[in-house]
Amino acid sequence: MEMLVRRGYLWQSFEIYGGMAGFIDYGPLGNGLRRNLEDLWRDFFVINERAVEIDTPTIGIEEVFIASGHATSFTDVAIECNSCGRIFRADHFIKEKLDIEVDPTIEAVKEVIREYELRCECEGEFKDPEHINLMFETKIGPGKGKKGYLRPETAQGIFIPFKRLSDYFRDKLPFGVTQIGRAYRNEISPRQGVIRLREFNQAELEYFVDPRNKTHPNFDDVADDFITLVDKFDREHRVTLREAVEKGIIAHQLLAYFVGKTRRFLLKAGLQDDKLRFRQHKDDERAHYAVDCWDAEALTSYGWVEIVGIADRSDYDLSRHTQFSGEDLSVFIPYKEPIKVKKRKVIPSMEKLGPVFKDKAKKIAEMLEKLEDAGDYVELEVDGEKVKVSSEYYEVKEVEEEVHGEKIIPHVIEPSFGLDRITYSILEHAYDKDVVDGEERRVLRLKRWMAPVQVAVLPLLSREEFEKVALEITDELKKAGIFTEYDDSGSIGRRYRRYDEIGTPFCVTIDHQTLEDGSVTIRDRDTTKQIRVKREDLIPTLKELLNSEKDIEEFGEIFRANSS
Ligand code: ATP
Ligand code: GLY
Repeated sequence: MEMLVRRGYLWQSFEIYGGMAGFIDYGPLGNGLRRNLEDLWRDFFVINERAVEIDTPTIGIEEVFIASGHATSFTDVAIECNSCGRIFRADHFIKEKLDIEVDPTIEAVKEVIREYELRCECEGEFKDPEHINLMFETKIGPGKGKKGYLRPETAQGIFIPFKRLSDYFRDKLPFGVTQIGRAYRNEISPRQGVIRLREFNQAELEYFVDPRNKTHPNFDDVADDFITLVDKFDREHRVTLREAVEKGIIAHQLLAYFVGKTRRFLLKAGLQDDKLRFRQHKDDERAHYAVDCWDAEALTSYGWVEIVGIADRSDYDLSRHTQFSGEDLSVFIPYKEPIKVKKRKVIPSMEKLGPVFKDKAKKIAEMLEKLEDAGDYVELEVDGEKVKVSSEYYEVKEVEEEVHGEKIIPHVIEPSFGLDRITYSILEHAYDKDVVDGEERRVLRLKRWMAPVQVAVLPLLSREEFEKVALEITDELKKAGIFTEYDDSGSIGRRYRRYDEIGTPFCVTIDHQTLEDGSVTIRDRDTTKQIRVKREDLIPTLKELLNSEKDIEEFGEIFRANSS
């Protein structure tokens, strides 16, 4: 953290006013790294899926969160000290003080407090545990205004315009809709630095499918990848994803596909495979909307940290929004061939209804036509009045009808990525120390394509003739779309160390020979080896190096290894 703050990756927000837990600023490097992570995410989950990206408000009206269940169920169990008044998230406090994983229920927390005579840090006693809602409430408009909430997930912004999205995809399932943006949770006592924020960044994919077909056409791409899984009974499995589905460890292929794709994405972003696992939620741990959920967890100095949640949300959200908004959020799925179905049909007789029911006759007829069957009589409510209609006013016939398809409410599989936790885990996994020229070196071994500064251009000496060429080259690299910094401050050794520490994969040095023949050197961060290339080869060489893991030796003769 000291390095991240000093070098401009992450800062405590509101620092000059004493700071506030749960908020961070991204400095220039942190912001660059997160932006590269977002681009990689888009490549994986938008461009290379049948998916689109949308952008919706971060404030939602109350109705949305009543329907979604967040207004009542998006809670954590909290304990409040009777003496000092501090409030803690119960499961975290119990884990920290007693090293016990407690079920997040009022009863379980009560029991642990009683059994272990648990007290606050000030030795005060706790009141009875309570559910606390995590959403930030706000008012929309002046005066009393309208109640709203800051969104606790980006997902709801995708469910609400579902009809329009389905229309965009010409009602053809499966399709995916993504959103990258801020989410807000008024976390109780966030004490884990950048891991538990009150304002954070999510990248979410809602993948809408026909519930009878939870498969993915590209499953084979990831099916033979080995993966570490911890199921809901805490059993660990090291299996391929294909085996995980065949053995029923993961419930269906589609969930397994997104587990596999998430792993590939995280590895490409720079996480280490041996510090990555997928853990299934226990039955009492799942969010109110999920029927199954697997978390990607990264091993960090905070222990195993959830960085992605991959949930099967079934038809929960679309059904609830259908119910609460009155809008039909189903999709019509046509059959390949129409099928013939025998049906009973109620056929009203207007001739008989008219003289008896007068101005109500038409409405009664329409209601009768909608019935699927009828006996000796039916009771209807017409304009608030109960009406009994006996079978002399209608006929029930068996008819054969052609049916062209059926309406279904799609199910949703949701990989939900926390970009801040992933950014932080990447930084921890990349941080390394080694010894170069007999001196300890701190180096951030970021993937080359993820580095916020990809190339540093360094004049060997601060003399005009070196600086002029270095500035020209900096300009050329920037025009070629490479994130480049020019730096002429301090000795060349110190500059190399600075760029190693922030994770810059290549330094280009302008030296005496550059002035003679135009050639420059490229230094590799990880090995510290250097090659010399002609000026006209510099951009193509760097581009190829940045987009691969190729050894620098493939691009020129090594003339210096282990140079500081
Ligand atoms: P936790 O159990 O750690 O509170 P969660 O299960 O509530 O997390 P989800 O609701 O599944 O998390 O959210 C999806 C993703 O959003 C998480 O995997 C995580 O990366 C990220 N996330 C959730 N809450 C926070 C937070 N307070 N700060 C930063 N990222 C978060
Ligand atoms: N959309 C999943 C979550 O934020 O919980």
